[in-house]
Amino acid sequence: MTHSTTQNRQWILRERPQGAVDERHLQMGSVERPVPAAGEVLVRNIYLLVPPAMRLWMNEEDSYVPAQPLGEPMMGITLGIVEASHDPALPVGTYVNGMGGCQDWFTAPAAQLMPLAPHPGVPLAAYRSVLDVQGLTAWAGLHEVCQPQAGQTLVVTAAAGSVGSLVCQLGAQLDLHVVGIAGGADKCRWLREDCGIAATIDYKAEDVGARLAALCPRGIDMVFENVGGPMLDRLLERINDRARIALCGMVASYNGGGTQSAHALMRLVTKAARMEGFLVRDHFHRYAEVAAKLQALVLEGRLEYRIDILDGLDQLPVALENLFHGRNLGVQLLRLSPERGA
Ligand SMILES: NC(=O)c1ccc[n+]([C@@H]2O[C@H](COP(=O)([O-])OP(=O)(O)OC[C@H]3O[C@@H](n4cnc5c(N)ncnc54)[C@H](OP(=O)(O)O)[C@@H]3O)[C@@H](O)[C@H]2O)c1
Repeated sequence: MTHSTTQNRQWILRERPQGAVDERHLQMGSVERPVPAAGEVLVRNIYLLVPPAMRLWMNEEDSYVPAQPLGEPMMGITLGIVEASHDPALPVGTYVNGMGGCQDWFTAPAAQLMPLAPHPGVPLAAYRSVLDVQGLTAWAGLHEVCQPQAGQTLVVTAAAGSVGSLVCQLGAQLDLHVVGIAGGADKCRWLREDCGIAATIDYKAEDVGARLAALCPRGIDMVFENVGGPMLDRLLERINDRARIALCGMVASYNGGGTQSAHALMRLVTKAARMEGFLVRDHFHRYAEVAAKLQALVLEGRLEYRIDILDGLDQLPVALENLFHGRNLGVQLLRLSPERGA
């Protein structure tokens, strides 16, 4: 079923998952399309971002946002178009980014939305992916936390993913020796042949320790960590003095479980290294500047990215499953309605 102009389909969190999300946890409902109040706009969601962190939002404990309440529509990061407006700041037809929820429609005051000015040479979906959160996350973790120095070695995990693939390319442009770790020969080939990252490790098929020894002969100076668990342990065992580890996420543990070895963590002490968690929201003051830089790189053909679009709001459980099995090729989006003329 596609979106309707009178009804609003919504995914409701019915039960909190302990492990992977399945049909017990999420339920699709439908209510009447909301009507904007004075000062509000009505937005039709076009793209819904499905990030790994959506799984964390479903837990009982707060993450970097308050826990998703049970029985309520799921939080969701969306790109949409204004279809009715009670605020001249956001006329009908304006594309906006916002927290539009896992649903077809929402209303909000204009101040809670970010108007977009898409470049005609860039796909609209890029404004909810490479030129948005993922791009700023890659940029902030690399520049602010890793503090890169030309010639040093950077290892990136989930390297063919939406954040990871940008980190790899931005790192290579800074003359770092970049090693990307990803799951599968196809992902590694894409990193090498399309993104220009010569050194890759397929952690599903190769001996990661042996490959790290071969590809990082001078040790590891920086890690951009997206995965955590045993993968991170192996990297910590090879860090150099004063290494910097940008802890962006630990996707291997989001469905539960996952431990770090005390021996590996002790390497942070013996190498006087710094491991720092960071949140992209603390870097939003750089948003316009970084998005403009990344858009220029995209237009010059110097930044590759992939957007994995599934059609239909009903695909949310599939999209979530894809992320945790590495089946997504780049940013996982759902297309909920047409970009124009719905
Ligand atoms: N700190 C922040 O502000 C911030 C902002 C955005 C994202 N993040 C974090 O950045 C990381 C990447 O997010 P993304 O949106 O770019 O997703 P993504 O990398 O495009 O997709 C997730 C990828 O993680 C890998 N993966 C999943 N389960 C795994 C496991 N058990 N072991 C190893 N690899 C696994 C898979 O790639 P393979 O096929 O290679 O295994 C999968 O494709 C996540 O940890 C996310 O939470 C943090």
